[in-house]
Order: sequence, then C-alpha cells, then structure tokens
Amino acid sequence: MKVGVPRETTAGERRVALVPETVKRLTGSGFEVIIERGAGKSASFPDPDYEQAGATLVDDAYTGEAVAKVQPPASAEADRLRSGQVLIGFLQPLTDREGIERLGECGVVAFAMESIPRITRAQAMDALSSQATVSGYKAAVLAADRLPKFFPMLMTAAGTVAPAKVLVLGAGVAGLQAIATSRRLGAVVSGFDVRPIVREQVESLGATFLDLGVTGEETAGGYARELSEEEQRRQQEALEARLPEFDAVITTALVPGRPAPRLIPASAVAAMRPGSVIVDLAAEAGGNCELTEPGEAVVREDVTILGYTNLPSTMPFHASQLYSRNVMALLQHLAPAGELNLDWEDEITSSACVTRKEEVAA
Ligand code: NAI
Repeated sequence: MKVGVPRETTAGERRVALVPETVKRLTGSGFEVIIERGAGKSASFPDPDYEQAGATLVDDAYTGEAVAKVQPPASAEADRLRSGQVLIGFLQPLTDREGIERLGECGVVAFAMESIPRITRAQAMDALSSQATVSGYKAAVLAADRLPKFFPMLMTAAGTVAPAKVLVLGAGVAGLQAIATSRRLGAVVSGFDVRPIVREQVESLGATFLDLGVTGEETAGGYARELSEEEQRRQQEALEARLPEFDAVITTALVPGRPAPRLIPASAVAAMRPGSVIVDLAAEAGGNCELTEPGEAVVREDVTILGYTNLPSTMPFHASQLYSRNVMALLQHLAPAGELNLDWEDEITSSACVTRKEEVAA
C-alpha cells in the first residue's frame, strides 16, 4: 500500500502525520511512503531524514492509496482525494458534519482518529490520548511561565518561598498529565472531575481530590455525561468559593460532541487573587471559563486567561512522533503486511470509519 503524507495547510498547524522513525518501520513492513517536500519541516523533521528512512519525496502526496493527515482536509485538499482512497486524520466527525459529508461525496474511505474506540486493543492508535498528553504537559508549563510566582517551594538565604497552589479541573488524559507536570515543577496540586472513579488516579499522582459535592456518571465509553443545569449551577457555586485559594487553574473538562461545560463564571474570576492564571484547554470547544477568548491570551479582573487552541502543535516534534505511531498502528491494522484488507466486522475498523464509498456512515 502506498501512503501519502501531504504538508498540513491549516493555519498554525505544525505537526506532520508521519515522522521518519515510523516511515522506516512502515517501509520495512510492506508499505511504500511518499512525503510531500517540506511536510515535516515545521516539526523539525527535514526532507533528507525521510529519504534516509525509505520514503520518496514528491510534490503531490495525494496519489497514494492512502493519505495520512493531521487536520481535516480543506475543501481544495478534499478535491484532490478520489473515490476508494483511504484517508486518515483528525476529521472532527462530531463537529464538522459538512466536512464529513464532503468526504462522503468524494467516495473516500475516511477514518477519523477521534472515532477509534477506546478499548485496550486500540490503545496504540489512541491519538486523542497521545495529543492530550502533550496539551496537559504544555498547559502546566504555560501556567508556570505566566504566574508571577515560583511553582516550587524554595528555601533561600532571603527566606522561604511558599509553593504555588494549582487546581486542575477535569482529570482525563490531559488533566492527569497537567497534574503530574505541575507536581514535578513543585506545585501543591488539587484535582477535580465529575467522574468519581478519577479520585484514586488524582491521589496516586500525589495531588488532593477537591470535593465539590458534585458527581456525574460515566458513559459506557468512559466519558463524562453532561451535567444538568442544576448540577452545573451547584458546581459553579462550589468552585467560586474555592477558587481564591489557588494561584493557577488548568481546566480540561470536556464532554464529546458538546460545548465545553462552563465551570468558571466571570464572577469566580473576579474572586481570584490578582496575578492568578487560568489555562483553559477547553477553549476550542468554547471554554470552561466564561471569560476565555479562544486562541487568545487575555487579562481580565487582573487574572491572566490563556485560551490557546491546538497546544499539541506548539510542541510539534513530540506531538508528531506520538501521532505518527498512532497512525502507523491504524495503518497496520487496516492493511496487515501492507495489503489493504478492510474487515467491517472488526470494531476498530467499523467504528473509526466515518465515510465509505458514496455513503456517509451513521
Ligand atoms: P475528555 O477530554 O472528553 O474530558 C476530559 C475530562 O473532563 C474527563 O475526565 C471528564 O470526566 C471531565 N469532565 C467532563 N465534564 C466535567 C465537569 N462538568 N466538571 C469536571 N470535569 C468534567 O476525556 P479524555 O481525557 O479523552 O478521556 C476520559 C476518559 O476516557 C479517561 O479518563 C478514561 O476513562 C477513558 N479513556 C480510555 C482509554 C482506553 O481504555 N484506551 C484511553 C483514554 C481514555
């Protein structure tokens, strides 16, 4: 199977779908890989490294039987895809219905990384987790950078400096990584999630579970269900009372396919101490904080609120390396030994596929 890797064209996207390390492994296991010249440049993977790994550099990477991308194809890119071709990427199946329909019309066999089931067998393909790990790490580093205080406790000749207090809201993959990174930087960390099962995970990282008196159930897929309006109101009130204790708040709460839950109203920001920092990882889905401006860093009520989107792209080397391994695992699943063999009875193949020839999968 010939796999093409185009250069990403979405503004600000610096990742690449395959890195030389995985190209080498793919070409060694029956795949042929073509890379658009310069595709890895912004992630610090130069063209000669791809050639050395066994890829062919091309001007048009859409000629393969499969195309591996990070972002969904823009309409000009979608026009270059053809019927029967396999497409792999973050295709936003829950939020970009139009884009998915466009792919369906082209007859592309499209696999969305977001739709890979979160079962043990598919862990190596779990790109939501690999990229959330990058986001969680970067959020903690950003919080430490913007806070006008040290994260760790310091004992100096000039006296003792108290450690920063960090609160992480939403302790899924990104939140747990933010907790672990904040702890490594020396902060005193608390975590909260509506899924009760998470308490133990938060505590195992040396953080305290913040009891807000609100719990929600977990859906079959391991995700949180959306809270009712009444529960949301109680959560906001409980948080507002506790937020002034913290120097930095990292929010990661998401419910798949829904707007991000509103955890921090403007009044709670006003109650925080001047100089505090909020890093809102849910900015892309509207934000967990009412005052977040997606894509921007703003100061409101003397609190710095970072609403940067696409944090994985700000660490493109490792984000691409991890993503590339996820893509490779999926490719090897769809095309064992390099021969495309789509088994629609298989849970991974059928769940991840969002369009097949002439039809849009439900
Ligand atoms: P996510 O990115 O959809 O959500 C992040 C977190 O926000 C979740 O922990 C969720 O419970 C929390 N949340 C939602 N509403 C909230 C609210 N109102 N207040 C506070 N927190 C709220 O989730 P993510 O990180 O992608 O995965 C969540 C879970 O999925 C994992 O912890 C795990 O249970 C499961 N999972 C399973 C995997 C596997 O078996 N292979 C791999 C990865 C995740």
